[in-house]
Amino acid sequence: MEFFIDTGNIDEIAETYAWGLIDGVTTNPSLVAKEGIDQKTLISNIAKIVDGPISAEVISLDYKGMLKEAYELAKIDDNVIIKLPMTKDGMIALNDLTANNIKTNITLVFSANQALLAAKNGATYVSPFVGRLDDIGQTGMQLISEIRDVFDNYAYQTRILAASIRHTDHVKTCALIGADTATIPYKVLNQLFHHPLTDSGIAKFLEDHANSLK
Ligand code: E4P
Repeated sequence: MEFFIDTGNIDEIAETYAWGLIDGVTTNPSLVAKEGIDQKTLISNIAKIVDGPISAEVISLDYKGMLKEAYELAKIDDNVIIKLPMTKDGMIALNDLTANNIKTNITLVFSANQALLAAKNGATYVSPFVGRLDDIGQTGMQLISEIRDVFDNYAYQTRILAASIRHTDHVKTCALIGADTATIPYKVLNQLFHHPLTDSGIAKFLEDHANSLK
């Protein structure tokens, strides 16, 4: 299972990448806006740290604008993945980028049918947003499960990139269902390490060791 970090923050990327557990990075316009630098500089800085897929999202709504942005972003580094919205124009742009061997990530996916369209046009990744479905009273993980079934029915190579991950149970359920990738915020990545019995176990071992020296 691939782990991506869902952030534009260089410090968070550098710290987590050093763990050896992070395979790539996803950004979006909201995450880039938080960092106060332009998107191209940010993606270039990330590429200096991370040797793996880095999603950079277009903001144009028409396919010509999307493609203009996409080809500029793709020039930054071989690891750049072009993130396109799940719209008709997004699908036209996807078709072009697939034909030109540029890797893609179709974002804002909220149904198995949308994921199917992206797979048919050769998307490298499809990003179902789990947490945002939970927010409106649906079960985001059900969508991951449905997309897994659909892709397996037809052996589509498009990778399921579970996005909008809010807590550690989302990560575990992704792994149980067989999501190919999860893009995980910094806070949740840190929470994955913790278990109270690990903490109390370490404390007890240290206590017993210290007592044995007395
Ligand atoms: C995915 O690539 C998106 O950046 C992200 O997961 C969105 O998550 P949010 O719903 O927490 O904004």
